[in-house]
Amino acid sequence: MKSKWLVVLILIICTFSAVACGLSEDKKEQEQAPEKSTEEDLIVIGFSQLGAESDWRSENTKSMQSTFTEEKGYKLLFEDGQQSQTNQITAIRRFIQQDVDYIVLAPVTEDGWDTVLSEAKEAEIPVIIVDRMVNVADDSLYTCFVGSDFELEARKVTEWLNDYCKSKDIAADELHIVNIQGTMGASAQIGRTNGLRKAASNYGWDIIAEESGEFTQTKGREVTNKLLRQYADINVVYCENDNSAFGAIQAIKQSGKRVGSNIKDGEVMVISFDGVNHEALLDVVSNQISCVAECNPLHGPRVEAIIKTLEQGGMPDKKSYVDEKVYSAQDEVSAIMVNDKKYDITILSEDNVIDYYIENQMKTQTEN
Ligand code: AHR
Repeated sequence: MKSKWLVVLILIICTFSAVACGLSEDKKEQEQAPEKSTEEDLIVIGFSQLGAESDWRSENTKSMQSTFTEEKGYKLLFEDGQQSQTNQITAIRRFIQQDVDYIVLAPVTEDGWDTVLSEAKEAEIPVIIVDRMVNVADDSLYTCFVGSDFELEARKVTEWLNDYCKSKDIAADELHIVNIQGTMGASAQIGRTNGLRKAASNYGWDIIAEESGEFTQTKGREVTNKLLRQYADINVVYCENDNSAFGAIQAIKQSGKRVGSNIKDGEVMVISFDGVNHEALLDVVSNQISCVAECNPLHGPRVEAIIKTLEQGGMPDKKSYVDEKVYSAQDEVSAIMVNDKKYDITILSEDNVIDYYIENQMKTQTEN
């Protein structure tokens, strides 16, 4: 009799706990439900960044990461390619496997993307190219591009150099230029090198040497140091970004030469690209860098605008280029002409440099 009651009691307990378990599972599901649907609603973006070689790159990464947040409805899968195209191709294949909604690619170099972009096209994943360009046989392999016109940047600084030399009676054959190039094969290197070569051939300048500084301060210093020992008459160091310019300035000073715009007085002029951080703008004010073509890294909001257009069924422009300034502290040249278009030179001084720096920071915050 006792054991019969025991069996009944066990059955009652089991029934209750099963019901209770069911209820708590239901409750758990109800609690998780809104989160699950939010997660499902997120637009998933696989971003293959090429590396972390410069201050420009850090700002670019920050711009992307602060734009594509979960609060704004995105899930950003970020992969750092560490300057290797193989790593970037692997990242893109991973994004395809994960079936992301969009792939955003900042390519380290231009060539060699046809196969992997065909795979993305096959998987029907739109690819947005950002910052640097790809060189592919079929341009339907990517949806669109947003970034800088690197050759235009080079045309701007070389026009500035030509006008500045005219204002100071420096003859074309007095210029002895070395080019500290960026990562070989990258659009930023190709455009800036081509721009310099074209100006040199137009104006009769002497380019003594071209060598890669890989867009870094260390390599920029090392290469400039070597070239200064090889060629005594260098008087213009054209650096394809600010970090290599920082290295070049160190090397020029270490060699016992003076950095500045006064070529006639034996100074070595430094020209550069980016103008992203405070240090670079201060170097312009102190005449360590004579002219900088701005290269704007704040692509996050621009890519977001493209994605919004695509989400609404629209078609963004195939290629869009960013408006960029030119900075100098020398007021001899107030504007330059490139392709019949006038570009004002932003003249930096101790009084206004902080305003421009703050303006850039504010732009970062508001654009994001
Ligand atoms: O592609 C943009 C270039 O890459 C920037 O000028 C440079 O600083 C960066 O590393």
